[in-house]
Amino acid sequence: MASYTFKYIRSFFRRVSSKSELKRIIKIFHKEMEKGLRGEKSTLAMIPTYSIPATGREKGGFIVADMGGTNLRARKVELKGGGKIKAGNIKEKSLGVKETKGAAEDLFGTIARFIDSLVSKKDAYAPISFVFSYPVKQTAINRGVLKKWTKGIVTKGVTGNEIVGLLKNALNKIGLNNAEIVSLANDTPAALQAGRYIDSNCDVGVILGTGTNAAYIEDVKNVKKWKAPKKIKKIIINIEWGNFNKLDMGQWDKKLDNLSSNRGKQVLEKMISGMYLGEIAKIILQGIKNGWNLSGFNAKDHMTLIAKDKTMNLRYVEMVLEKFGINNTTIKDRQIVKEIVGLVAERAARFGAAAITAVITKTDPSLKRKHTISVDGAVYRNYPDFSAIIDDTIEELFGKKGKRQIKVITTKDSTSIGAAVIGAVACLIK
Ligand code: GLC
Repeated sequence: MASYTFKYIRSFFRRVSSKSELKRIIKIFHKEMEKGLRGEKSTLAMIPTYSIPATGREKGGFIVADMGGTNLRARKVELKGGGKIKAGNIKEKSLGVKETKGAAEDLFGTIARFIDSLVSKKDAYAPISFVFSYPVKQTAINRGVLKKWTKGIVTKGVTGNEIVGLLKNALNKIGLNNAEIVSLANDTPAALQAGRYIDSNCDVGVILGTGTNAAYIEDVKNVKKWKAPKKIKKIIINIEWGNFNKLDMGQWDKKLDNLSSNRGKQVLEKMISGMYLGEIAKIILQGIKNGWNLSGFNAKDHMTLIAKDKTMNLRYVEMVLEKFGINNTTIKDRQIVKEIVGLVAERAARFGAAAITAVITKTDPSLKRKHTISVDGAVYRNYPDFSAIIDDTIEELFGKKGKRQIKVITTKDSTSIGAAVIGAVACLIK
């Protein structure tokens, strides 16, 4: 027997992401942000990043090394000032089980060798801007301790340790003594700074990819828990919004959480991000259809194709199901699959929009200023209609004024460009 009916699922998703629910969530989000900034117990870590907002005039060349979710990336980026950039090709390598489930030495050894392939031994000095997109409590622009792993990584010996030191040791071990790690950053301040480098109204950076999170610009006087370096008036805060949990969970959300490596944590992330969307849809579908086995069903390959299917008999949905050995489906079956995939993705996009709205209204409740939101990540860029639903929901929440005052942009290569900008501002605040 199915544990829930299609009718129940539809009404659940519509209820939890209705306009009134989103407004309620935004209010709670503000409270959590405030508590996090005061250093009280909160689901939002609200981490001061030691990165000051860019002016667009930053200059300098950096080697950016980026450990994001599933891949390592590196490239040389040169900022020429006035929003101009010269960047090398992106080198990419996917992380294996050894790195993501093994020991710290394996992970940082791999990162060090990867950096080595871009650094010339002849250079007297190679400034590295390191992007490490996990909840890190920063203690300086180039120092920070990992609070906990997210996005399914469980590498031992990293949680509770200082990240730049781990990378520095690995670099020294292979004799790369001319490399200096000038900055340590999360991908969200990088998205913000990359947006800001070309648009001075940019004050929020968002990632909607394997994981989800955002960073924004806050007045230092509001960050009660933090003793700011002298002369700093504004600071970028890494919210770590993926951990927000004041949300109604469906049975499928609870099941997914139970199966995850970080139970009870990252509840919003588990409803929004690319790593989990396919899993939710899979759990629901298997719950309705006895005997269906969709093991390996994911957002990138399967949900995307289903969402794009505009054919009358839902031919692509049929193809996806056949890949899982599910043949002879009826049109009704396929309609249900398409609608469930749509409901899961729509909730994700609407929650993303609510979180963005919460961040904007935290600093500017009546939208007096213009805001540019710099968004990056595969879900935002590639999932059908995801960005359109976000735009529509923001308009639904703010009305016409929202359309006038808020611009949501996709910033290409935001991580590498933003990390170089952070490397450049790092030179200013030391
Ligand atoms: C996870 C990480 C966070 C990162 C986000 C997007 O939520 O904890 O630090 O910004 O994924 O990559």
